[in-house]
Amino acid sequence: MSDNNVHQLDDQRVSRRDFLKLSGLLAAAMGLTAIPPVEASGLPAELGRSYQPNDEIIHALETAQRAPVIWLEFQDCAGCSEAITRSVSPSLVNLVLNTLTIEYHETLSAAAGFQVEEAKKQAMEKYAGKYVLVVEGSIPTGMDGAYCTVGGRTALDLLKEAAAGAAAIIATGNCAAFGGLPKAAPNPTGAKGVWEIITDKPVVNIPGCPAIPEATAGTIAHFVVFGALPELDELHRPKTFYGKTVHDRCQRRGFYEAGKFALSFDDEGAKKGWCLYKLGCKGPTTYNACATIKWDQGLSYPIQSGHPCLGCSEPNFWDGGGFYQGQSAPLVDRPIGTAVVSAAVVGAAAGAVVAMSNAAKKKSKGEKK
Ligand code: SF4
Ligand code: F3S
Repeated sequence: MSDNNVHQLDDQRVSRRDFLKLSGLLAAAMGLTAIPPVEASGLPAELGRSYQPNDEIIHALETAQRAPVIWLEFQDCAGCSEAITRSVSPSLVNLVLNTLTIEYHETLSAAAGFQVEEAKKQAMEKYAGKYVLVVEGSIPTGMDGAYCTVGGRTALDLLKEAAAGAAAIIATGNCAAFGGLPKAAPNPTGAKGVWEIITDKPVVNIPGCPAIPEATAGTIAHFVVFGALPELDELHRPKTFYGKTVHDRCQRRGFYEAGKFALSFDDEGAKKGWCLYKLGCKGPTTYNACATIKWDQGLSYPIQSGHPCLGCSEPNFWDGGGFYQGQSAPLVDRPIGTAVVSAAVVGAAAGAVVAMSNAAKKKSKGEKK
């Protein structure tokens, strides 16, 4: 790293480990050369590959033209905005955010009311065709959109207007991506995700409840540096962050393979950290990077804290088979790709085979069940 870059990191209170971690993520997201020692960064192998400190990422961000961003919030809890301000490495996410000019953000803007609405209008005119539009929250379509209005205009109207002039559209959080909690049955407001409404432009989905801040920041960084979107899966999620299931990266996976399952939240299995599959864990069919990036400065994520995955980065997660219903529950109510079905079936089959084999071993040894 150059002295300048070291100073910049120092100024932002970025530790070497934090820098390694986000740099690896961003490098992976941007398709830049990445680099070991993976262990030093705490990165998952598929994200970190090989990494050593270099100027490539910082230089790319420093020299990229500052990108104007308009961040709209509709039917949401502001949790995704909250998450990005309390991310694993706030200073590091700032490194990305500092390459942006946030022209409009309802929660973070100092201005309010007509003043900020006017600022947004001017920004959309000034940067027409150039700004990144980030959307948080679902869009109500019932009652002609009257369930959610800002400045007297419906969310539906505001989304279409902002999308028309956007260079890239990023839907952050499950609500903006797939409708989220507001879309749960009976969906009284007719809530929809952005990509159900904006169909003439690509929409990148960063689902989660909330979205992982590094996934949002990494996707924006990719667009800022390359002027192009990262590779996406069939649900428009960046493959870098959503290419593997939670189950693939789960630290309880060994117990799953060994057929050791917690059967209640306070049994011996739960206390020993066994697999939560029989308590309804949807990790096998949920694609997200939370098991490796985690939350609260890398402290934990739901499964590590003893809670089964609820599938918060998948469509219809709120209605998709119910929570805590064990392995017999239908997992995700959406068209599931062959690979996903295969992974789930193979995972379930592997667990069943191991469980059966263990049972057989016990039986042959004359152990009681
Ligand atoms: Fe982890 Fe859930 Fe998979 Fe068990 S079923 S290994 S708790 S992701
Ligand atoms: Fe969400 Fe499941 Fe991760 S509920 S945060 S995808 S463990």
